[in-house]
Amino acid sequence: MDDARWQAARGDMMYDPEVANLNTGSFGPTPRPVFERVTELRHRLAEEPMDFIVRRQPELLWNAREHLARFLGGDSRRLIFTANVTSAINLVASSMRLASPGEILLTDHEYGAMHWCWERAAERQGLKLRTFALPILPNDPAEIVTAFRDAITTETRLLFFSHVLSPTGLVLPAREICALAKGRGIVTVVDGAHAPAMIPLDVKAIGADYYGANCHKWLLAPIGSGFLYLGAGNEDRLQPLQVSWGWRRDFTKPDGRNELGSTHRIAFVEHEGTRDICPWLVVPEAIAFQEALGWDSIRRRMRELASCVRQQLGEIDSLKVATPAPTELSGAMIAFRLPAGIDLAALRKGLWDPHRIEIGLHERRDGNLLRVSTHFYNTAEEIGKLARVLPGVMAGAVRS
Ligand SMILES: Cc1ncc(COP(=O)(O)O)c(C=O)c1O
Repeated sequence: MDDARWQAARGDMMYDPEVANLNTGSFGPTPRPVFERVTELRHRLAEEPMDFIVRRQPELLWNAREHLARFLGGDSRRLIFTANVTSAINLVASSMRLASPGEILLTDHEYGAMHWCWERAAERQGLKLRTFALPILPNDPAEIVTAFRDAITTETRLLFFSHVLSPTGLVLPAREICALAKGRGIVTVVDGAHAPAMIPLDVKAIGADYYGANCHKWLLAPIGSGFLYLGAGNEDRLQPLQVSWGWRRDFTKPDGRNELGSTHRIAFVEHEGTRDICPWLVVPEAIAFQEALGWDSIRRRMRELASCVRQQLGEIDSLKVATPAPTELSGAMIAFRLPAGIDLAALRKGLWDPHRIEIGLHERRDGNLLRVSTHFYNTAEEIGKLARVLPGVMAGAVRS
């Protein structure tokens, strides 16, 4: 696809032209057709909630689940919609019963709130929580698998890791890690927040016990859409966070369709009373939008822009790249270690106030990180602008 077509595709996004949004890693903007569809559904919800929730929503929900399952390479009867990946991981963490004594094992690069989620689960169950260090700038996925192998002990009951690390964009070999853990009887929970649409994803092949992710980042569905995929043998191990109308399920037909547009088994954990689930219902439109551009083209475009980030920001002396270059270890987020002494709030303000640039910033004990996300709608000009203004903004953000 040439530049003019990418410009046209960008024009189909709800995207503030005054802003260089290089932070899809936090939240994705919405394509216009997806926004229009979700608005149409919300219009009906507002004017005739009874008709929408009781008559229209069940069919739309069934259809959305089928589409998302197909996109993920999974089975719709194992796919639970959630508001976000936080809900998906909490659903698992609050209902898993693990043998004590023992430990929950995490990498040292997990998203802060998810680390807390497992900290609470460990406290409640009398388990230890242990983190281990991932290799810095690995050259080969095998180095990462070795780090997991070395970290696992006979005490490990549950292993939690991100498929794509939030601070650095490193892509972990999820399938190999899950196989390693499975061989030792360890429950695997994967945080796939960034994976759908950014990298090719086949949830069945990964083989995690639980795989949670967001549709409102790289897949560009409206905010409020995520999922939890149940691995084989894990269909009935969870308890709902809210007891609602899915609770008294029909155990004779667990995978049969119910009046909510789910199966009995899924509604047990998914249905949480009356709420606006329109973001789930338009996931098919979000998939279709990028499918029309072509996944290969999108991923090629993301990579070209990511290389541009790597090259242009790499020329700034004080920044050290923190995302490995091999294609199997990285996707569309490139991170750089910032020099010591920079105030992150001042850096964010310095980029936003005069320049309207959005990037990701992560506070870490081993050195703060700046992360640049590149989706298809970003441009080389936006990256060039960031590279041009960044040295000056960093100088202005040095702590006095
Ligand atoms: C790895 C990872 N996990 C979890 C989350 C939380 O996402 P949400 O707030 O959409 O649940 C994020 C958000 O950036 C993330 O990067």
